[in-house]
Amino acid sequence: LKAHVTLDPAAVVAPVSRRLFGTFVEHMGRCVYTGIYEPGHPLADEDGFRTDVLALTRELGVTTVRYPGGNFVSGYRWEDGIGPRAQRPRRRELAWHSIETNEIGIDEFARWAAKAGVEIMYAVNLGTRGVQEALDVHEYCNQPAGTTLADLRRANGAEQPYGIAMWCLGNELDGPWQLGHKNAAEYARLAAETARALRAAEPGLQLVACGSSGSTMPTFGSWESTVLEETYDLVDYISCHAYYEEYDGDLGSFLACANDMDHFIDSVVATADSVGARLRSRKKIQLSFDEWNVWYLSRFQGGPPPTEWQVAPRVIEDEYNVADAVVVGNLLIALLRHSDRVTAACQAQLVNVIAPIRTEPGGPAWRQSIFHPFARTAALARGDVLRTAVDGPSYETERYGTAATVDAVATHDPATGDLVLFAVNRDRAEPVELTVGLRAFGAGARPAGTWTLADDDLLATNTADSPDRVTLDTSGTVTVDGDTATVVLPPVSWTAVRFR
Ligand code: AHR
Repeated sequence: LKAHVTLDPAAVVAPVSRRLFGTFVEHMGRCVYTGIYEPGHPLADEDGFRTDVLALTRELGVTTVRYPGGNFVSGYRWEDGIGPRAQRPRRRELAWHSIETNEIGIDEFARWAAKAGVEIMYAVNLGTRGVQEALDVHEYCNQPAGTTLADLRRANGAEQPYGIAMWCLGNELDGPWQLGHKNAAEYARLAAETARALRAAEPGLQLVACGSSGSTMPTFGSWESTVLEETYDLVDYISCHAYYEEYDGDLGSFLACANDMDHFIDSVVATADSVGARLRSRKKIQLSFDEWNVWYLSRFQGGPPPTEWQVAPRVIEDEYNVADAVVVGNLLIALLRHSDRVTAACQAQLVNVIAPIRTEPGGPAWRQSIFHPFARTAALARGDVLRTAVDGPSYETERYGTAATVDAVATHDPATGDLVLFAVNRDRAEPVELTVGLRAFGAGARPAGTWTLADDDLLATNTADSPDRVTLDTSGTVTVDGDTATVVLPPVSWTAVRFR
């Protein structure tokens, strides 16, 4: 098979937003407890944080971390997690049916975030709580000093405010599973009032209104419309959430699920812009794709409901294979190509719970297959995103219509001259010879590294015993003839090629 793409530094979509490389730490399963935090572990630091997980988080290239949920946040009392640990309450956690010890709260998480070098995106509880509690947690986190809650933070050891810029106005409140689930009008009103109050406290905050929890929700579209009609001037972002999995062995559809993400993003942009047009506003709402990943959700939903109340139970610790990693790489390609409107995104989640990093209590931490395309993309995507149209074969899928065999996006950093092409080959049997037209870059674009994720065994995974079974191959070659480069993409593969 053959395909061709021509790259041009003038065809800029938008700058690469560093916030696209966000992730998510929810108080769920073992993401926090025995994930980022495990006092007594041989590699724990003075705060009980696992230094192996901190190192992998930095290597992953994470920029922003959404916290503390997720479904968890809709029943959470943030003040349970501050002050002396011995006095913190143990609570029933209803979203995931577990016990929350509150050993970690916002002060500890802010310490972890500083060590990891990441920005916090904080979600407030608009399920069981409202405007006042959102104002309170904001005062505790961001008010410098001289008020009761700011001084309480200082007394608890954090002299400086946390300066959290991005605030999510609740989580997935369109979902009947959500504690405090609301209809669109109820949520819109509460989100608007909360946004108004937070802006009165700190005008420059970046606020995210909840969009739909998925594009298959029955209220998808009308939810966004109702919410934005009420909040358009008050918020900066509307959120999107999407999880993908392979159904009934239909690998062809699974490999094309970035088509669905493209369509989802285009639909939310169209809905937001139609509200803007009705309101005669020139403002453009941004998209925060603050939950996305591969998640074998149907296996989770098909399993027995939890019975016991446990601290940090094992919940959705999906083990990712080669095909999953190719899909994750492709979803990042889809996010990047929409950089003009999607300027924040969080892969859900960071550790253990549908995560690129896995740990065992008392044992090792390792990279899942999906770690690799994320880490490489976060490291290589710099400067501007370029419009990238691939000419090549396509195939039919059951779920997502006609899909291009090769999907790709490129970034170009005018400051360093680095040009990087990210591409997937979705064909299950054949390699693709991809030619890359570089005439617009003059003599400046010479191959400077390739990274490929592919394997004869698409089901291969990384485990505690075999942590590097699935990794990146850097031995691929790029041939150059005049101003055309050629790279061979193996069947079911993700590749990054750097030119400089
Ligand atoms: O990431 C797992 C869960 O998925 C989150 O708690 C929720 O927001 C979503 O449904």
